[in-house]
Amino acid sequence: MSKMKPLYDGIKLNCTIVSDTHIDEKHPMPWLPKWNLRNSLKDAKRNISPVDAFITVGDTTSRGSEANWAMTVDCFSKVPDAAKNIILTIGNHDCWHDDGFDSAINNYYKNFETICKRKLDKPYFSYILNGYHFVFLGNDCDSGCEASIGEEQMKWFEEDMEKAGKSKKPIFVFCHQSLNQKHGLPRTWDRNEDPNADPWDGGLGKNSDAVEEILKKHKNVYYFSGHSHMGIGGEKIQKSDGYSTFEKEENLRLINLPSLSCGNHHGEDRSMGVGVQLEVYTDKVVIRPRNTKKRKWLTVPIKDGKPYFEEMIDK
Ligand SMILES: [Fe+2]
Repeated sequence: MSKMKPLYDGIKLNCTIVSDTHIDEKHPMPWLPKWNLRNSLKDAKRNISPVDAFITVGDTTSRGSEANWAMTVDCFSKVPDAAKNIILTIGNHDCWHDDGFDSAINNYYKNFETICKRKLDKPYFSYILNGYHFVFLGNDCDSGCEASIGEEQMKWFEEDMEKAGKSKKPIFVFCHQSLNQKHGLPRTWDRNEDPNADPWDGGLGKNSDAVEEILKKHKNVYYFSGHSHMGIGGEKIQKSDGYSTFEKEENLRLINLPSLSCGNHHGEDRSMGVGVQLEVYTDKVVIRPRNTKKRKWLTVPIKDGKPYFEEMIDK
């Protein structure tokens, strides 16, 4: 086990990204998701280059109940100072509460403030970290498994992306659901492939094309999602099955994260405890899958035979 360190010297931005931690008091082993989350925080804390942000891509909890959020707060408080910023994207499971969506979203806002030290009044927001723009999209209402991105949020998203584009730097967008029909969806939505699956299954849903259109208006956009609990897939599965964790659609890069705490399916490495490290340098972006439990980089070939994604920034 070794301390995490950046791939190159001169790092400008260093982030740990995990998804679908599914903290759950009703889990058959409630300690397990908590243990996975704490391990990923401890791993980030041991990075020799301080981590600028620890980000989850939604489904931090399995239901947005008071008990699950209390367990989540406990995890973060047990590993203080893992990163300079903690940011929690909202997922569909975080929107589910016995008393309805309003109770769930209020719990999200309240616990976001406790954990992330920022007051929210919308499920969508942005951050600027070391001069780089980070955009977070989130459900306006309970819409089942797909995302609900209302008109007001779409307008805000378009305007925020315009602002981000002016920086001429890479832009990082986070939404729990991937765009429709990417990363092998809909057939990779479930462990058991459904030949009659709806084409939207497992994806963002009705707003997917509109979101994609906005993303594609800008250069150097990286879109991170989770939701489908797929293992890390690289070049091999891309060749054999036509999908992978890292996909490219024109000028847009798409990255789908596995679940940190649930059994993953599809993909080449289905381990729990896997997230990615995002490293930004003056001229390039590097994204490295890592087993935060074993504190080891994954060995799955991702691009050009290397076990990580690396791309020059388009000037
Ligand atoms: Fe999930």
